[in-house]
Order: sequence, then structure tokens, then C-alpha cells
Amino acid sequence: MKPKMNPTHASTATATAFFFLIAVLTLLHHEANAATCHPEEEAGLLGFKSGIKSDPSGMLKNWIAGTDCCKWAGVECHYNSTRVERLYLTGQPDENPKSILSGTISPTLSKLKLLDGLYLIDLQNISGPFPTFVFQLPNIQYIYIENNKLSGRIPENIGTLTRLGALSLAGNRFTGTVPGSIAKLTELTQLKLGNNLLTGTLPKGVGNLVNLTYLGLEGNKFRGTIPDFFSSFTNLRILNLTGNRFSGNIPSSISTLAPKLGYLELGHNSLSGKIPDFLGKFRALDTLDLSWNRFRGTVPGSFRNLTKIFNLNLSNNLLVDPFPEMNVKGIESLDLSNNSFHLGTIPKWVASSPIIFSLKLAGCGINMRLEDFKPSETYFYDFIDLSGNNITGSAIGLVNSTEYLVGFWSAGNKLKFDLGGLRFGQRFKYLDLSRNSVFGKVPDSVVGLQELNLSYNHLCGKLPKNKFPASAFVGNDCLCGAPLQPCK
Ligand SMILES: *[C@@H]1O[C@H](CO)[C@@H](O)[C@H](O)[C@H]1NC(C)=O
Ligand SMILES: *[C@@H]1O[C@H](CO)[C@@H](O)[C@H](O)[C@H]1NC(C)=O
Ligand SMILES: *[C@@H]1O[C@H](CO)[C@@H](O)[C@H](O)[C@H]1NC(C)=O
Ligand SMILES: *[C@@H]1O[C@H](CO)[C@@H](O)[C@H](O)[C@H]1NC(C)=O
Ligand SMILES: *[C@@H]1O[C@H](CO)[C@@H](O)[C@H](O)[C@H]1NC(C)=O
Ligand SMILES: *[C@@H]1O[C@H](CO)[C@@H](O)[C@H](O)[C@H]1NC(C)=O
Ligand SMILES: *[C@@H]1O[C@H](CO)[C@@H](O)[C@H](O)[C@H]1NC(C)=O
Ligand SMILES: *[C@@H]1O[C@H](CO)[C@@H](O)[C@H](O)[C@H]1NC(C)=O
Ligand SMILES: *[C@@H]1O[C@H](CO)[C@@H](O)[C@H](O)[C@H]1NC(C)=O
Ligand SMILES: *[C@@H]1O[C@H](CO)[C@@H](O)[C@H](O)[C@H]1NC(C)=O
Repeated sequence: MKPKMNPTHASTATATAFFFLIAVLTLLHHEANAATCHPEEEAGLLGFKSGIKSDPSGMLKNWIAGTDCCKWAGVECHYNSTRVERLYLTGQPDENPKSILSGTISPTLSKLKLLDGLYLIDLQNISGPFPTFVFQLPNIQYIYIENNKLSGRIPENIGTLTRLGALSLAGNRFTGTVPGSIAKLTELTQLKLGNNLLTGTLPKGVGNLVNLTYLGLEGNKFRGTIPDFFSSFTNLRILNLTGNRFSGNIPSSISTLAPKLGYLELGHNSLSGKIPDFLGKFRALDTLDLSWNRFRGTVPGSFRNLTKIFNLNLSNNLLVDPFPEMNVKGIESLDLSNNSFHLGTIPKWVASSPIIFSLKLAGCGINMRLEDFKPSETYFYDFIDLSGNNITGSAIGLVNSTEYLVGFWSAGNKLKFDLGGLRFGQRFKYLDLSRNSVFGKVPDSVVGLQELNLSYNHLCGKLPKNKFPASAFVGNDCLCGAPLQPCK
């Protein structure tokens, strides 16, 4: 937009000055146009910024007064206006120190009168109580304050936020009970309160939240029975109650969640009784975790119908034979450890899975030569735990055939092979072969492992220089060198 100039009427100097004036005016005009966001809302956001005490990754560095706040990182305005509709700030789920935000959530955000979504996810170090200013936001529909350090109680009047479609306070330090008023949040499709310090029993009113697709209450201290309130839920895909203190049976109304339910995770509780037959109806089940409870009796034959299950964890219960012959094409992870099974061999439907990465069959009464376990695909194997069985033969064929194995646990078997023949892949970190009949020398390659146990075998010779305790090597035939006694 260069101004047209007539060289006969203006000297070059005047023309240049004129050009600059136009340029400056244009710039100023542009700036004024740029700062278009609502001044109250800009002030609200800047108030939030001043509540943040440290921002090492510079997440909020373009939040500068006088610039268009609709363009600030994490701020989303309505498509047809300059009003802030959503605040969406995410860090990183790992403890990457670069993406931490420290500080509190300033109540000045109540100035964002049209806010419908507040997303403060994985910022790790946002503290303070529940942000009660949300009660002043008539449009608020989505609250995701995940993986931060908020604490205190969930407000008793949470039920007045009746427009809420999703409420996630997962991964904070909330204490106390879940307020009964939560029953009024009937539009909720997601309720995620996992990994807090919540206590008490589950309010019966959660049964009113019939539009839930995701109910995550894992990693709290909830107790009592799991309420039998699922019969009106028609869309639930994920039910995660892992890691609480729930007791009693699996309630029968869970059967009404078939066939849609994809994740049923009830591990690490004090549940008891039999595993109900109706679980076989869950044809869309991706993950079933009933581990670390007190389930007894047999695994229902109806499990043969779980043809699409990827992750099955029944470990650490009181289950007995016979285990049903599953029809699943590709299991990804299986853990049946520490029950009272006598499987005899590793099941065929396990060996034939093309995608299995984790196989845990510790204490499953397996009596076989390990060479007879011929998995059709070993490429994905990360973890293999066969501890406490009666497995004979050599681990070399199996371990050597894996590319990315991370851990192999096979303590307390009857394995008999030359340790020098074992190949350690690049990701190999954990090896436990204690209480077997492994012989030969301890190879240098063990030095790079994170955890090692070779105790009670028939190994001999000088140990490579290593960081492991003596208990990792005791009980062998003639090992010597630190941490054992020096070689003669
Ligand atoms: C844009 O907003 C104005 C004023 O809020 C409203 O009158 C108009 O209908 C909106 N246009 C669209 C396409 O939503
Ligand atoms: C987390 O925040 C607290 C107080 O706001 C601060 O003292 C602490 O250093 C922060 N931690 C990290 C890792 O930034
Ligand atoms: C559940 O969702 C449906 C469809 O989205 C809606 O019509 C119904 O009102 C909702 N139920 C409740 C209790 O909000
Ligand atoms: C359920 O909770 C457990 C424990 O926190 C977690 O490992 C798992 O990923 C959760 N499942 C889903 C589907 O979120
Ligand atoms: C599997 O499902 C079919 C069809 O619903 C049913 O007839 C059969 O009895 C089920 N099998 C088992 C072992 O429960
Ligand atoms: C169940 O087993 C799977 C696969 O081995 C594992 O990833 C998961 O963490 C286990 N669950 C619990 C609650 O231990
Ligand atoms: C089996 O039980 C033992 C003893 O309680 C425990 O140390 C081990 O971790 C369990 N193994 C698995 C795979 O759960
Ligand atoms: C191993 O086999 C012996 C006899 O062959 C049996 O007495 C023992 O109980 C078995 N141990 C396990 C862990 O299955
Ligand atoms: C296993 O790997 C080791 C180390 O690479 C090699 O010496 C040995 O011959 C391999 N054995 C088998 C059976 O593949
Ligand atoms: C190795 O295994 C033995 C016997 O199972 C156990 O006593 C010892 O504590 C273990 N040591 C290490 C370092 O895991």
C-alpha cells in the first residue's frame, strides 16, 4: 500500500517523511484493530497469568496486554465474535520439567462470561482449591482440570452446574466424599475423578447420570459395595474403579452395559464372589481387569465369547481350573498369575496371537519344556513372567527370538541352559532366573541391566564388574568376585 507520489510536487525528503507517516499510521491502526478482544476478558486472562508463578516453557509468553487475546496460546474465541469461549492449556503427562505451570487459578477468570470450556491439563503444579468462580459462568459445559495439584473438597453445590457435559478432576489431591448433589449433573457424559484422595461410599445418585460414557473413579479410597445402579446406563464405554477399597460382588446391573462396554477395570479392590457368567456377553470388551481381588471359583465358560478382548488380567485372585479355551484372535496382554490354576501348558490361543506384548503366567501350574512354547510372533514382546511354574529346558530360543523384550521373569522353575547363550536385546532391563538350574558363566552383558537375579543356580566363574547386591548371585556353584568373595 505504497502511497502514490508526484515527484514534481514533493521533494524526495518530503516524500520519504510522508511515506513513513502513512506507514506508522497504518501500523497504529492495525495495532488498534488487533487489540480487539473484550477488555474485561483481557483483564481476566491477564489476572490468570499473574496467578502463575512460574512458566519455564513460556506457555503464556504471548499473553501480552494490548494484543489480541483471541490469538493467545490456549485461548479460543467464538468464531463470530471476540469473546473467549474456551481456555485450553495442556502440558505433558510425563514429569517433563519443561511443561510445568506453577501457581493458582485466579478467580479473575470469572470475567470470561461466555466461557464454555476450562481445560487445564497436565500442567502438574497448579494448586489451590476447586475454582469456585465457575459457578458464575452461565455457559460452562466442560471442566477438565487434570493432573495438577488441586486440593480440598469438591464443593457441595457442584450439582448446580447443571449444564456440565464433562467434569474431570482426575489426578489432583481432592479429599472428602463425592457430594450427593452430583446426581443433578444429568447431562454429564464424562465423570473422571480418578487418582485423588476421595473417600466414602459412592453416592447412589451417580446412578442418575445415565448419559455417561466414561466413569473413572480409579485410584481413590472409595469403600463399600459397588452400587447396583447401572441398569439405566445405555452408553457407558469405560468403567474404571481400579485401586479403591470396594468390597462385595460385581453387581448384576453391570450386565446391562453389554454389549457396548469396552473397559471394565476393577483391579486392586477387595471384591469377592464368583466372576459372573454375564461378562461373556460383553462382545466389545477391550480390557477386563479383575486383578488383585478375592474372586473365587472358575472362570465362566462364556469367556469363550470374548473374541475381541485385548487385555485380560485376572491375576492375584483365588480362581481355580478349568480355564476356558478362548476364541480370541489376538490378545495383547494376559495376566493369570497367582491363582490356583494348573494350566499344564501355555495355551495355544496365547501362542498364536500375532500382537501379544505382555504374557504373565506366574504360578499357573505350567509343566512343559520352554522349547515347546512356539509363539507365532515374538516381535511385540515386552514382558514375559513365567515365575513359579515347573518349566524345564532352555530360555535361549524364546528370549533370543524377541527383538524388544524388556523383562523376563522365570524364578522358581527347572530351566537348565548355559547363560552365555542368552541374547540381551537393546531394551532388556529385568532378568530374574533365580532358583533354576542355569549353568555356565555370567556374561558381561548383564552389567547394563537394571535388575538382575541369578541366585540359586549352577553358575560358576568370575563375575563381571557389576552394581548388583550379593543376593542376586548367592547359592550358585562357584561364582566369585564382587559382590561375592574374591576369586582365588
Ligand atoms: C454473529 O454474531 C452476531 C452478533 O452476536 C449475530 O447477530 C449473528 O447472527 C452471528 N452470526 C452467525 C453466523 O452466527
Ligand atoms: C510447585 O509449586 C510450588 C508452590 O507454588 C513451588 O514451591 C514448587 O517449586 C513448584 N514445583 C516445581 C517442580 O516447579
Ligand atoms: C441424554 O442424552 C440424550 C441425547 O443426547 C438427551 O436427549 C437426554 O436428555 C439426555 N439425558 C439426560 C438425563 O440428560
Ligand atoms: C484405569 O485405571 C488404571 C489405574 O490408574 C489405569 O492404569 C488405566 O489406564 C485406567 N484405564 C482407563 C481406560 O483409563
Ligand atoms: C456365546 O454366545 C452365543 C450367542 O449369544 C451363545 O449361544 C453361546 O451360548 C455363548 N457361549 C458360551 C460359551 O457362553
Ligand atoms: C493387569 O495386567 C496388565 C497386563 O499385564 C497390566 O498392564 C495391568 O497393569 C495389570 N493391572 C493391574 C491392576 O495390575
Ligand atoms: C505373584 O505373587 C507374588 C507374591 O505375592 C508377587 O511378588 C508377584 O509380584 C506376583 N506376580 C504377579 C505377576 O502378579
Ligand atoms: C511341580 O511338579 C511337581 C511334581 O512333578 C509337583 O509336586 C509340584 O507341585 C509342581 N510345582 C508347581 C509349582 O507346579
Ligand atoms: C542367542 O544369541 C546369542 C548371542 O547373540 C548367540 O550366541 C546364540 O547363538 C543365540 N542362540 C540361539 C539359539 O539363537
Ligand atoms: C533374588 O532371589 C532370591 C530368591 O528368590 C531372593 O531371596 C533375593 O532377595 C533376590 N535378590 C534380588 C536382588 O532380587
